[in-house]
Amino acid sequence: MKVLMVCLGNICRSPAAQGVLEFLARKHRLDIQVDSAGTAAYHIGKRPDARSIAALAEIGIDISQQRARQVSRHDFEEFDWILAMDRDNLNNLAQLAPAQERAKIALLGEYRNGLNGGEVADPYWGEAAEFAQMREHLMVLLQDFISEIKS
Ligand code: 4NP
Repeated sequence: MKVLMVCLGNICRSPAAQGVLEFLARKHRLDIQVDSAGTAAYHIGKRPDARSIAALAEIGIDISQQRARQVSRHDFEEFDWILAMDRDNLNNLAQLAPAQERAKIALLGEYRNGLNGGEVADPYWGEAAEFAQMREHLMVLLQDFISEIKS
């Protein structure tokens, strides 16, 4: 199974989501390939934001080797799931996607055990505390995503 995590810049939320899902997939011995991308082009080629790298390093997850890229049309064929961090990015993905691939696109927060996990708040203008909150939110949402795909 191949899963693409999508946010705006691909430097804060989606690289963190990739790192957390890779970690959980290993823990649950699930064969999931994970990548991440942004809907915007501002940060192409950059490593994740230093604050995201630090927040994930605190729990032993290294995302420093990731590099930002933009979502491409090919992604809609390549991935089984394309999970957006918020509704703006979900809407942008829906506009980019060929009609027959739209079912693969979802809001990550929809997987929270039947509860509404909501949007993953953009921490870009925040501080370390917002990045730690983002990490904890991703951990909960992605654990639920794992439960969903296991069932
Ligand atoms: P991300 O956060 O979408 O979680 O990577 C952002 C990164 C950059 C910007 C906004 C959000 N920006 O405006 O440059």
